[in-house]
Amino acid sequence: TRPIRIAPSILSADFARLGDEVKAIVDGGADYIHVDVMDGHFVPNISFGAVVMKAIRAVTDKPFDVHLMISPVDAYLAEFAKSGADIITVHAEAGVHLHRTLQAIRALGKKAGVALNPATPVSAIQHVIDDVDLVLVMSVNPGFGGQSFIPESLAKLRQAKALIGGRDIDLEVDGGVTANNARAIADAGANVFVAGSSVYAGNDPATYADRIAAIRAA
Ligand code: DX5
Ligand code: ZN
Repeated sequence: TRPIRIAPSILSADFARLGDEVKAIVDGGADYIHVDVMDGHFVPNISFGAVVMKAIRAVTDKPFDVHLMISPVDAYLAEFAKSGADIITVHAEAGVHLHRTLQAIRALGKKAGVALNPATPVSAIQHVIDDVDLVLVMSVNPGFGGQSFIPESLAKLRQAKALIGGRDIDLEVDGGVTANNARAIADAGANVFVAGSSVYAGNDPATYADRIAAIRAA
């Protein structure tokens, strides 16, 4: 079994004091920093880009797990690599040359991830599975924090886990993850847990450690 990683999403952080919010989750036990980049085109929301990510890179050595909700994405990969990304995840739906995009990420020396929207079947990545280091199963429709976990995602995680088999690939879940459903999600095969609102709600740094610990304990 692969190590469990908790990856709080800074999408729900207080952007007015973003550096402190990142530091607070690291102090609270976060394994990865999940960075949600939205373009207002692939998803119906705009968040922030590489310049903002670069500004918080100095705050921690923890891996930056960068979730690009951008289409087309290829022209931005080098900038995110240069700005401190460790894992770069693109959507299977975001372009017609997924294989090329994944190769480009690895050519930049970064780990390549592929994300699946709720309606996209696991079979969409069957022929690129040896070209990825991480599979991200979206358990909400991407674009916003604070949505409810789609129950069908558990069956999809099991399918993704079966496709991964014995390969050295992380299985990540993103959307509506809480301490209440983390056990079922882990049973379905996921080992990287993105958590936005369930860690950052209220934006009180004093609560982050307990919330991260509660997800891990589940
Ligand atoms: C949704 C993002 C998620 C989001 C998760 O488009 O990819 O990472 O921030 O937020 P919660 O955990 O609140 O569903
Ligand atoms: Zn995300």
